[in-house]
Amino acid sequence: MRLPIKLNEAGWPARFSRLSFAFHDPRPLAGNGAGLSQQAFSDAISTMQFGVTFKTTRPGRQQHSNRFVRDLLRGSKPAILDVGASDGSTSLDLIRTLDGDFRRYYVTDLNLSARCGLDRGGIHYFLDNDGNCVLRASKRFIVYSEVNGAILPLRVLAQALISGHRRASQWREVVLIQPELIGLARSDPRVSIMRYDMFTPWKGEIPGLIKIANLLNGKYFSPAQMSQALRVQCSNLAENGFLLLVSEDDEVEKFSVFRKSRGAMQLEHTHAGGAKAAHLVPSQIDLPDVNAA
Ligand SMILES: C[S@@+](CC[C@H](N)C(=O)[O-])C[C@H]1O[C@@H](n2cnc3c(N)ncnc32)[C@H](O)[C@@H]1O
Repeated sequence: MRLPIKLNEAGWPARFSRLSFAFHDPRPLAGNGAGLSQQAFSDAISTMQFGVTFKTTRPGRQQHSNRFVRDLLRGSKPAILDVGASDGSTSLDLIRTLDGDFRRYYVTDLNLSARCGLDRGGIHYFLDNDGNCVLRASKRFIVYSEVNGAILPLRVLAQALISGHRRASQWREVVLIQPELIGLARSDPRVSIMRYDMFTPWKGEIPGLIKIANLLNGKYFSPAQMSQALRVQCSNLAENGFLLLVSEDDEVEKFSVFRKSRGAMQLEHTHAGGAKAAHLVPSQIDLPDVNAA
């Protein structure tokens, strides 16, 4: 990140929030989102970055694809694999739109939780699954550990500030999932929230729809990495199943829908120019290697 130190909009006058380097306050996540609205929870989540990917999301951002999928799946009740769902707000939207027309709904993401600790000055530090500090948040500033592309002084300053996590205490687990979705998964056995890496084969029920929204993006992955992820996901998909790719540009929702048919992926529908990675979807799907362990 070229500018690994951002303003925390909580510590500045409201007009500062229009600046591109002013980000939402992630500190309310330390209380597991208690008392936050769905939008406020997604705002806080969207500031989090793990590796190169941000957890940016918000409810209501995929209305066009949700309606398309509802009409496409009407009456078929497939298992659905939602890959890279962040806090699950967009999963909640699709679940509501489908109004029960699914057999299973797997809400998945590589980063479902973080550890949060505080130092004596009340500064919050967030650690990833491997115990690496990814973010430091004070009332006025947000500092990221991802410093690729930053000039040397900023890189050194960001790393020095991040290293303050060694003095933090009161560590607690923070769940990065909308509380309402957690409640739904508890009460509806069809809905599961699971950690899943899109580069690995899916081990759950074979999905009739795989959705990947705002993850296959050249800002995050090389074309070779995106092609690899797509090969894995096309292999995961059931015969006659659908792959839905969604991306967003300037708040415009774009999507592409492919159908798997006799070992080939066929483009079925394109909306607003299609998703960014649509051209990387393999036309033929490799058969699984039967000799592989
Ligand atoms: C920009 S968010 C998109 C959230 C949601 N799909 C949406 O459209 O609002 C990207 C998400 O992908 C997750 N992610 C990153 N790498 C991943 C991987 N290899 N496998 C699965 N999820 C991943 C991140 O943790 C993040 O939550």
